Amino acid sequence: MHRSTRIAMIAALIATLVLAPAAHADTVASVSSPDGTLKVELDLNGEGRLAYRVLREGKPLIVDSRLGFILRNNRQLLRNFRLDAQSARSFDETWEQPWGERRFVRNRYNELRTGFSEKDHERRRIDVVFRVFDDGIGFRYEFPQQPTLDAVEIVEELTEFAIAQPAIAWWIPALEWNREEYLYNRTPLAEVGIAQTPITLRTGDGTHLSIHEAALIDYAGMNLMKGGDGRLRASLTPGSPANVVRRSPFATPWRTITISDRAAGLVESSLILNLNEPNKLGDVSWFTPHKYVGVWWSLHLDTETWATGPRHGATTANTKRYIDFAAANGFRGVLVEGWNAGWDGDWFANGWDFDFRKPTPDYDLQGLAAYAKSKGVHLIGHHETGCAVSHYERQMDAAFALFDKLGIDAVKTGYVCDAGQIERQDVADGPVIREWHEGQWMSRHHLRVLEAAAKHHVAINSHEPIKDTGLRRTWPNWISREGARGQEFNAWGDPPNSPEHEVTLVYTRMLAGPMDYTPGIVSLTGKHGQEIGSTLARQLALYVALYSPIQMVADLPEHYAQHPDAFQFIKDVAVDWDESRLLAGEVGEYAAIARKARGGGEWFIGAINDRNPREVPLKLDFLDAGKRYRAEIHRDGEGADWHGAARFRFVREAREVKRGDTLTLWLAGGGGAAVRLVPIEG
Ligand code: NOJ
Ligand code: CA
Repeated sequence: MHRSTRIAMIAALIATLVLAPAAHADTVASVSSPDGTLKVELDLNGEGRLAYRVLREGKPLIVDSRLGFILRNNRQLLRNFRLDAQSARSFDETWEQPWGERRFVRNRYNELRTGFSEKDHERRRIDVVFRVFDDGIGFRYEFPQQPTLDAVEIVEELTEFAIAQPAIAWWIPALEWNREEYLYNRTPLAEVGIAQTPITLRTGDGTHLSIHEAALIDYAGMNLMKGGDGRLRASLTPGSPANVVRRSPFATPWRTITISDRAAGLVESSLILNLNEPNKLGDVSWFTPHKYVGVWWSLHLDTETWATGPRHGATTANTKRYIDFAAANGFRGVLVEGWNAGWDGDWFANGWDFDFRKPTPDYDLQGLAAYAKSKGVHLIGHHETGCAVSHYERQMDAAFALFDKLGIDAVKTGYVCDAGQIERQDVADGPVIREWHEGQWMSRHHLRVLEAAAKHHVAINSHEPIKDTGLRRTWPNWISREGARGQEFNAWGDPPNSPEHEVTLVYTRMLAGPMDYTPGIVSLTGKHGQEIGSTLARQLALYVALYSPIQMVADLPEHYAQHPDAFQFIKDVAVDWDESRLLAGEVGEYAAIARKARGGGEWFIGAINDRNPREVPLKLDFLDAGKRYRAEIHRDGEGADWHGAARFRFVREAREVKRGDTLTLWLAGGGGAAVRLVPIEG
């Protein structure tokens, strides 16, 4: 053979060796958490497909999980990648929340930034960024600006979460008609169909995981479905013409996995908040965390109505009664639903009649706002859209301006309609397009509302919302939301909430952020006498167990008059906190949470239980050393239970305690306990 031919052949062989698909994947980059517990490795396999895996203390927790996209207007972004660049950095800061479960939040992680491009002529590029905390990871895709990937229409995100071990999962179904308002399933992970996030998992060795997302901005909400091989895979909420339509440059929301040995670690994590951008509204001291009452439970009991007529709840006289009740008991807010034009007729099916500037004839909005002010109370506005969302957007600026003028600085919004039935109309009289509550268009809508409201110093509490992904850090006027099966189901739900439901919420929905659950139904009775599956003490415990910076005192004033001892706790309990800890609990079984009142020395404990009675010993090692405390204990009385007259067995007693003591609480089936710890002076 000619020498030059031989050299050419050897060269070709070398080239083949270099370019040929490797038999196995190569780890091309890795990053560990600050304390080294967690490690993320990024692989490129022989086809140039990207995958990540997570190791915990050296053991696989998430095994090779693919990354990529299916696009509508372009080829898939999936294989043929090469790593162009990588860089790492460490970050550690402590930031302050204007309001929250804790005042100071430590944000400490190691970051790995990787840049990939396709090996073909188009050289399309994508970056993947990992932030690895000691209690979990977040990662997102970034689409750099590039001519070959300018308009991006994402049909599906192929992100996978392949859990190394079998696990139990707590989850609610995605894409079902009743949005987020479902009881939780507890199933083997292998039986998850399509789930919303956050989803909570516990593996065989007791590791707890919560998979969710952070900073859902201008993107479709992520659901998780089981792929053919048993892995969980992202499934984006539908949108048109594609689930996500963006122009580069942009970043996806963070995909998050919170990880802990104990259920408490999930509850105490700030990972979701940390992956959001800092406050961009500046001073939000105009929002004060508070408790509120209102024309609400009566509507769900159907003793009063949203619609005008003989049983209209939002009348001037009735609202005055609630204002007086709020003022007499130190509650700042009075919510009134059914105050505006549009409720008459079938509002569930038609939101286009709502007028958010026009009170009903029997409701003196100006006079009531002035009356409230004279008593140191604030009306809370209500904007039920009935899902006619574009119709609402056309009015919202004027509506917030009106409220601003009247001293109304918090508004409850609502999006009642079946999933996928949000009505979007881009031009007046144009075609109406149906959108999903969790879709990209609604992610933009909610931010438009927050920005419009912030201009008028109005805070927003959204019902039937998009899921919470920690955006309260960036827009601290997004104070609360519903986004789960709330107390209203105890009025008319079939079935009502089970004793497990609220206990499960602590470890699932509440990991996303505050919930306007509306606790405190001391009458323990819904519509037509339906029993609420809760003891009296448990209704008090919910104020501490389910965090929200606004908490409703949801029952009727006349019902509180019948339970003065229980009512005292509702008056005393704080709503804004310096610190929060889960003292004891297991997912879906029980939870005992302690929180320290913001800016004061008092602590509160809320404990809630599933249907199995139990004793919970709580070590009071969080109290200040050398101080004595008066523990005001509100607990289930002997024989209490979540059925029948036993629901009302209740004891209020006081005892002196100090740091290091153990407080043992007996919780009835479906029961709970609420404790106030007041430092004793001198
Ligand atoms: C559903 C909300 O969750 C509830 O609180 C409200 O009363 C109704 N919609 C009417 O807006
Ligand atoms: Ca609701």
